[in-house]
Amino acid sequence: MRDERNLYQCVWNKLREHNQLQLLKWYASLGEKEKQTLLLQLNEIDYTNLEQAFDRQEKQQGNLSIEPIDVLKLEEITRNKEKLQKLGINEISRGHVAVVLLAGGQGTRMGLDGSKGMLDIGLEKPLYLFEIVVRKLRKTADLAGCYIDLYIMLNERDAESVKEFFEKHDYFEYPRENILFFRQKMYPKLFFDGKIALEQKGQVAMAPGGNGAWFEALEQSHFVERMRKKHIKWINLVSVDNPLYNIIDTAFLGALIKQDGQLGVQVVEKSSPYEKVGVICKKEGKPYVKEYYEMSREEQEAVNEQNELCYRYGVILNYMFDLNEMENIHTVDLPVHLAVKKIPFIDQRGKTVFPEQENGYIAERLALDMIHLFERVLVYEVDRKKDFAPIKNRVGEDSIESARKLLVENGYVL
Ligand code: UTP
Repeated sequence: MRDERNLYQCVWNKLREHNQLQLLKWYASLGEKEKQTLLLQLNEIDYTNLEQAFDRQEKQQGNLSIEPIDVLKLEEITRNKEKLQKLGINEISRGHVAVVLLAGGQGTRMGLDGSKGMLDIGLEKPLYLFEIVVRKLRKTADLAGCYIDLYIMLNERDAESVKEFFEKHDYFEYPRENILFFRQKMYPKLFFDGKIALEQKGQVAMAPGGNGAWFEALEQSHFVERMRKKHIKWINLVSVDNPLYNIIDTAFLGALIKQDGQLGVQVVEKSSPYEKVGVICKKEGKPYVKEYYEMSREEQEAVNEQNELCYRYGVILNYMFDLNEMENIHTVDLPVHLAVKKIPFIDQRGKTVFPEQENGYIAERLALDMIHLFERVLVYEVDRKKDFAPIKNRVGEDSIESARKLLVENGYVL
């Protein structure tokens, strides 16, 4: 009892200091267990960190001047493909490569209540996004003659159901000891005024902290240690929502090794100067991704002497990281983005409201910001018709429908 009172006092002090006392509005009406759970949850939150994220976001705004970056183009890649592939396959068969699959997002644009990886995009028979990843990995494993570890990042909401899903499907016939799961941390959702939201009377609304959390989460799960023991040199980082990815693209890896790069970044040519993708460029002489909403019209439309767009390539979330170089990177220093979202909340009468309009933020660190922390970066073009079928929205552009069309064009039987 005394401990509980102490904890309450400690939490109350914190909340008052950070102007978040609204979080205790329903405390008195809760049962003993719910009270305890809420206090523990509130006690865990790093309020100072959140406030700093808010402040930093303000400072990050503004127009940053950029310049074009060199890109290894499709033409040149095609000319040297065989040699590059050989180099890549050789590295894989020496057991030096692992895959990290980003599956910790909540798929809010699609309104999902489970992991996007469990989405079935098949027509005649089930075909799950996770299954596609495992199948691709199996092909590469067969080519290289060794199994490749797949590390899957999940959020708290989905972690258990995804493991059950893999069990149910017998790990899609891949050795289960080569598929490992790890969790990323969750952070409170904020209203536009910076106040933290309650999802239920006794529960703070939480969201995963963005895909930039992957290395930190991998370290916390002791999987970096495991990778080192297994002499992993390269980590292929891919997202779960592009079924056309070339997972461990052997020529991509070969080109990176050949250029003695620390990080490989796959890009596609933008469909128009105004496409809503992050654009690869240089800022202050270092590789950088500038988000489409930060680009001025002049930057979007700028052309070079060959009359090509200066900022012509967008990133697609397929990266190859040198594990040793990751030691020198401090992912906690990554900028924090406040992504605008619809946040369900408890109203003054204690009822849950599902807002029609965006009403707040989730704080995210993004993998694409890691690019700016590296010196020797290989920017590698892939063919968007063959490598890029993102699934982001319920209907229309970048939906299951549009991805299916691209998969069929690439010879998939759905
Ligand atoms: P998106 O940023 O597109 O997010 O993630 P999402 O969750 O898929 O969809 P929305 O924005 O909520 O509608 C790109 C990739 O990064 C992963 C996602 O699972 C996806 O593979 N991701 C995103 C994480 O692993 N963790 C996160 O916190 C966020």
